[in-house]
Amino acid sequence: MSFFHGGGRARVFWRLPEWMICKPHCIVYSSVTGNTQTLARFLAERLEIPLFSIAEAPNPENYACLILGFWVIRGMPDPRMLRFMQTVRGKTVFFFCTHAAWPDSEHIQHLRDAVSHLLQDQNNELLGFFSCQGRVHFSGHSAHHPMTPERKHRLEEAALHPNAEDCARALAALAQSLGMQ
Ligand SMILES: Cc1cc2nc3c(=O)[nH]c(=O)nc-3n(C[C@H](O)[C@H](O)[C@H](O)COP(=O)(O)O)c2cc1C
Repeated sequence: MSFFHGGGRARVFWRLPEWMICKPHCIVYSSVTGNTQTLARFLAERLEIPLFSIAEAPNPENYACLILGFWVIRGMPDPRMLRFMQTVRGKTVFFFCTHAAWPDSEHIQHLRDAVSHLLQDQNNELLGFFSCQGRVHFSGHSAHHPMTPERKHRLEEAALHPNAEDCARALAALAQSLGMQ
């Protein structure tokens, strides 16, 4: 299986490694407002990997390698993906997500650690992780989260994502984690 990446300029030839060809693999994603779906569709199309929304999630036992995409709520994967993750055991896993927080924030570091521990505690082997901001489709006004200048700036930046660069970076991260040439 192969694909060309680079949009017509620097075209790079990617090839699935032997172990991936032998092992059934798929992407399962959860997305309410489309941000995570954008990344998931891009990855699935470019890498020719089967794609399932969380509503039609397959039995994880039918796959050896799972690529899980989700949106973040209260610092954790959304509840539907969290429930699905709890059924994933003894697999090879890459996960990605979209969120409003800054990618290099403690909030996202904590999320990454929590999801990594959850998956590893279930005997899964972690391949890698990618995250980027995603537009928040709500007013942003909340009694718990007052609209400070910092928050306004962060939400304005989040509204610009995921963009083409995020998609390309997600693809590079996944391809590298899968050991693609
Ligand atoms: C109710 C709600 C709670 C959220 N909680 C968080 C959060 O705790 N941390 C964060 O970084 N982003 C949070 N977000 C932002 C979403 O994770 C972000 O917009 C994401 O890209 C939505 O993905 P989707 O379009 O795939 O549904 C929240 C959004 C909503 C609507």
